[in-house]
Parts: sequence; C-alpha cells; structure tokens
Amino acid sequence: MQDTAEMPDPASFVFATCQIGAEQALKREIAREWPDLRFAFSRSGFLTFKIPPATELPGDFGSKLAFARATGFCLGAVSGSSEIERADSVWRLIGERPVSDIHVWPRDRFTPGFRDYEPGMTGESIEIENLIRAQAASHGRNLSPSSNLQFAICNLQSFPESKRAGSSVISRQDPPCPPLRRGGEVDLIADVIIVTPDEWWVGYHRVHSIPSSWPGGFCAIELPPGAVSRAWLKMCEAVLWSGFRLKAGQRCLEIGAAPGGASQYLLSCGLDVIGVDPAEMDPAVIGNPNFRHIRKRAKEVPRKEFVGVDWLTSDVNLPPNYTLDAVKAIVQHSGVRLIGMLLTLKLVDWSLADEVPKYLERIRSWGFREVRARQLHHNRQEICVAASGFKIPGAKPLHAAGGRFRRGTKSSRKDAKTQRRRDAAIERMTKKTKDR
Ligand SMILES: C[S@@+](CC[C@H](N)C(=O)[O-])C[C@H]1O[C@@H](n2cnc3c(N)ncnc32)[C@H](O)[C@@H]1O
Repeated sequence: MQDTAEMPDPASFVFATCQIGAEQALKREIAREWPDLRFAFSRSGFLTFKIPPATELPGDFGSKLAFARATGFCLGAVSGSSEIERADSVWRLIGERPVSDIHVWPRDRFTPGFRDYEPGMTGESIEIENLIRAQAASHGRNLSPSSNLQFAICNLQSFPESKRAGSSVISRQDPPCPPLRRGGEVDLIADVIIVTPDEWWVGYHRVHSIPSSWPGGFCAIELPPGAVSRAWLKMCEAVLWSGFRLKAGQRCLEIGAAPGGASQYLLSCGLDVIGVDPAEMDPAVIGNPNFRHIRKRAKEVPRKEFVGVDWLTSDVNLPPNYTLDAVKAIVQHSGVRLIGMLLTLKLVDWSLADEVPKYLERIRSWGFREVRARQLHHNRQEICVAASGFKIPGAKPLHAAGGRFRRGTKSSRKDAKTQRRRDAAIERMTKKTKDR
C-alpha cells in the first residue's frame, strides 16, 4: 500500500538514489520490476518516476531494486532563495505527514573511488540537517531525540565484542533485527536529498529493512585503524545488510581473500576463516591462529577442504559467471551444507547489470531459497548477493508430504533419506577434517 490512509495528499512520484554510473542500470531495473512507473526527472545519482493515477505501489517497492541505495515517495523540490527559506519549505512539503524522524543526505558527486571519492554524508549536508531539525519545533514537529542514524548505530553496537582468544578483533558490530522500530511502530521518515547546495528534494519512506533505516542508505561505518583493505567495510556492510548472524566458532570459506580486509572482519566476529587466494595475505591476517590460507585458485583446491564450512564469501576479480562457476562447484559438493553466502559479483561491464536476475536465478537453482542483491554503499562497480535457506533442490519439506503424523509419499521418504545420508556424510567428514 502507498500509505494513503495516513497521507492527506498521497505522493504521485517516487525517488531513488544510487551511485554515479548506476543510473541506467537502475532505470532498466525499475522498468522491469515496476513497469507502470514513468521516468520523470533525474540528475546523476538521483532519479524520480511518476506513479500513474490509480496505481498502487507498495511502501517497500525499493526492496526489489538492487541498484537503488535509497528510495521513497517524492513530494518535489523545495523553494526559497536562502537556506532558512528552504528549510521552512521542507516542513511545508511534508505537511501533516506523521513523520518521526528526518534523513538528510547529499546526492553522490562522483563515481565511487574516482580520485578517492567515497559517497556519504558531507559537512554541508550535516549543517543543512541541523538547520531543518532546528525548524521542526516551529512547525509543530516533535522529532525523535536521537537521530535515526544514532538509533541505527546503537542497534548495530548492541552486542558485546567477541572475546575469542587469538582473534584479531578490531571492532565487533552485530546486525540489528529488521525492521528497526521505535516503541513497536515502524518509523515514517521524512527524506531530504541535497541534489545541489540550493536544490533540495523532499520525500518520505517507511523503515521496512535494515538499510532503509540508514539515512540515504549509507552504512555509517568507518575503516578501523589496522584494517588491511577497504574490503573490511564491504564485508561489514554485507553482514549488516544481510542480517546474517555469524556465530563465534563457525567456519567461513573466503574465495579471493587477499590481502585480507574481509577475512579480518570475519575473524573479528570470532569465525574460523579459510582464505583461498593465489595472492599473498597480509601478515596481520596470516598470523591469526583462526585463519588458514590455501594459496591456490578456487578450482585447484580439493573439495574435501570445504567440508564442514558454514558460510561462504567470495570477492574474486572475475566476471560474475566465472565466480558463480567456482561457487557452484563448492556448494554442490555432497559434504558442503552452507548456512549462507555473501558474494561480490563484479560488473566488469555495466551491461552485466541486466543479467542480475539470471545470476540470482542461477543461485536459487542450487537450492538457496532466499537470494537478494544490493549494490552496497561500499561497493564499487559490483553488487553483493546474500543467499541463505539452503535445501537440496528437489527435496520436499516433510510437512509438504503430509506432516509429521503421516508417512509421506515414496518420493518424500526418499528425499528425507538422501538428506539424512548427506547430513551423516557431512558429520563424518567434518569430524575427520577437525581431527587432522
Ligand atoms: C578484490 S581482491 C579481494 C579482496 C579481499 N577480499 C580482501 O578482503 O582484501 C580479489 C582477489 O581475488 C583473487 N582471485 C582471482 N581469481 C581467483 C580465483 N580463481 N580463486 C581465488 N582467488 C582469486 C585475486 O588474487 C585477488 O586477491
């Protein structure tokens, strides 16, 4: 639903923000997922679309869009020749909507990585946010005392640091439970996108997922001192976005692990990490007793090395289908039963963005029932895929064949037997690997 019940004046536009360079991919994705939307106005990194009359658009329409960093309903551009007038215009556009907080963020200015450019908040956007917040009371608004950003960070830091001996802990952040709520209510957030210093656009959205609680979809984490690569940020954001609960003592296989920023993050979560990469690992990682380096290409590693791993992460600088071939060979080994995977797929050419649905379908065909993609804040020309809910393809859940009180069909009994045999094989092989 489009929140029409509470909205005095339902919006007839939506907005989406993305990294510079992803606009065409996002437009084509919107044409595919929401074909009724009509492209309206855009600047690099900021797009708007018209919702045709009588079209119902769900509030979480953005969750289907891998290339949108933030989405919402759009109320238009503010007017005013000074910042004070524009801040006043923000509140007039928001009108009677019962927003509990406000997200203010700048449009991206350059491609991520261009001359070290990193998308994110700027001093200017923070000043504008302060100005808009300062005017809230005079418009009869009572915003949450902490900004949503602080609220999200509090949630992210709600768990104690991993105390595992020997782990090279830099910092420990656990994923929050989606969607972030305050007092049981899902937040309605006012959005202000600083397109240029004197052109601000206003909208609103409901918090429906973890990244929709982050202003602008920016994951406000910082590279800690001692991190060996920015892949630390990518892995941390991937874990937070996916909501995957990594538990100390679980095993993770990292394909494309060198120099080791992502492995460092995983080790800081208390995981045992097997890093597969023909390149050299950083001494800070290789010296960790919970890390094992297999200095080979993924395809050269004997499959038995992968038995008993719980998680698989991959960040190889190869085109997506090569990465997926390597991953498939691992997940289809009879001794491997993963809880989940976080895969970085490099879009070596932007035209590959159109293939994303096929990549996700390919991963589903291996037995992963939950498969999602997002171009993370810390991604460059690449996307992150989170896959979980593994089940041997073709095996029917027992309840589907008649529940626990019936014997089920011949084929469901066979599926259950295959599953049991596979579990027993994994157990035996895991024991052997651990004993080595
Ligand atoms: C983007 S870097 C990985 C960064 C790393 N995840 C980190 O945390 O620092 C890509 C890596 O993929 C590795 N690579 C390329 N092809 C590979 C393959 N077939 N198997 C394993 N690693 C591979 C490269 O050697 C390179 O170190």
